[in-house]
Amino acid sequence: MDNGDPLYVGLMSGTSVDAIDCAMVRCRGNKVMIVATHEHAIPPHVKTQIAAISHSGKDEIERMGVLDRLLGRLFAEATMQLLHLSSKRPEEIKAIGSHGQTIRHRPPSAAANGKSSFSLQIGDPNTIAEMTSITTIADFRRRDIAAGGEGAPLAPAFHAAAFAKAGVTRAVVNIGGIANASILDGKELLMGFDTGPGNTLLDHWIARHHGQSYDHDGQWSAAGQTHDALLQKLLAHSYFSKTGARSTGKEAFNLPWLDSQLAGLEPIAATDVQTTLMELTCISITNAIRRCPLQVAEVYICGGGSHNAYLMQRLAQHLAPATLANTSVLGMDPDWVEAVTFAWLASRTLEGLSGNSPMVTGASGARILGGLYPGRYLKI
Ligand SMILES: Nc1ncnc2c1ncn2[C@@H]1O[C@H](COP(=O)(O)OP(=O)(O)OP(=O)(O)O)[C@@H](O)[C@H]1O
Ligand SMILES: [Mg+2]
Repeated sequence: MDNGDPLYVGLMSGTSVDAIDCAMVRCRGNKVMIVATHEHAIPPHVKTQIAAISHSGKDEIERMGVLDRLLGRLFAEATMQLLHLSSKRPEEIKAIGSHGQTIRHRPPSAAANGKSSFSLQIGDPNTIAEMTSITTIADFRRRDIAAGGEGAPLAPAFHAAAFAKAGVTRAVVNIGGIANASILDGKELLMGFDTGPGNTLLDHWIARHHGQSYDHDGQWSAAGQTHDALLQKLLAHSYFSKTGARSTGKEAFNLPWLDSQLAGLEPIAATDVQTTLMELTCISITNAIRRCPLQVAEVYICGGGSHNAYLMQRLAQHLAPATLANTSVLGMDPDWVEAVTFAWLASRTLEGLSGNSPMVTGASGARILGGLYPGRYLKI
């Protein structure tokens, strides 16, 4: 890679709604190098609005329209801050790849009728292009849904491009709000799927009981005992027995669902529930990897879950004899893999290359993803 290779910016705000991850990368084909990063805070009132719009309620269209523009402005500000920090000018950036904020994910595998499937990410890309002057690619998931796919996960193609190694069977697992895994058979992508909850239930349970946004290093989870009856009930969720193309979201794994599972049991200490939720995350990831037709030798973690020391310890115990590490061992900081993925996907789109993996999403074919919102410097 050299300074002549184009620069892209990837923007990611995931299900945890913890921050906007911004990564500037140089990109040539499958070669990607991180140039600068920035974590942009999401103001509390915006987090509240995102939480409120993530389920049905009064005046949804009005609230969504306002929030769409507000998030577009926030994504643009995040990008401008990244440019400022890295002393780059807008005209030096070929494109922004913006994932957007998911406010609904109802893929074919979760829709009662396949035709009612949809996935919605907001954060107006017109506003991003207008405010930054940079060409913006957004709305990556809906083309895959239109082609009969799940629209998710989209990371596996990038995981294969960045982390595959000839002769080794690897899994790359992103533990964000929801967790997703990519299985790499040598240089080939063999499978990819969401495994179920990553941090989302852990975050919501500690927020309810201790008012904290997450369980730092898993200290609270480490203090309790696994409640076996609860764990078995949670593992009986229909998502965990699905095979083939599958993806999920907070629509399936949320506190009301957890409360409904707790309802039929004896009262359980809140700490033990947290420990059990940790086991749920670790066991559902392990089971999904074990169900693959090939034995996975190496597992690499990215996303916020990689910082959770207790989660990493439990996961290593469950996955043994496979080895566990985070993606920094493979040369990429685990915090930026998702944002880099969307920078890379934007480069694919501009190069006229497909971004989805039909064997992962179930789409009827490979598709060029996203909509293009021209910036001031776009040359067609
Ligand atoms: N030191 C830590 N200890 C425990 N958990 C942590 C720590 N640092 C981060 N996390 C967890 O990581 C989460 C954020 O992860 P991340 O940003 O990857 O998720 P996300 O925004 O939902 O992304 P996506 O859905 O795109 O994968 C936090 O909500 C928290 O649960
Ligand atoms: Mg995040």
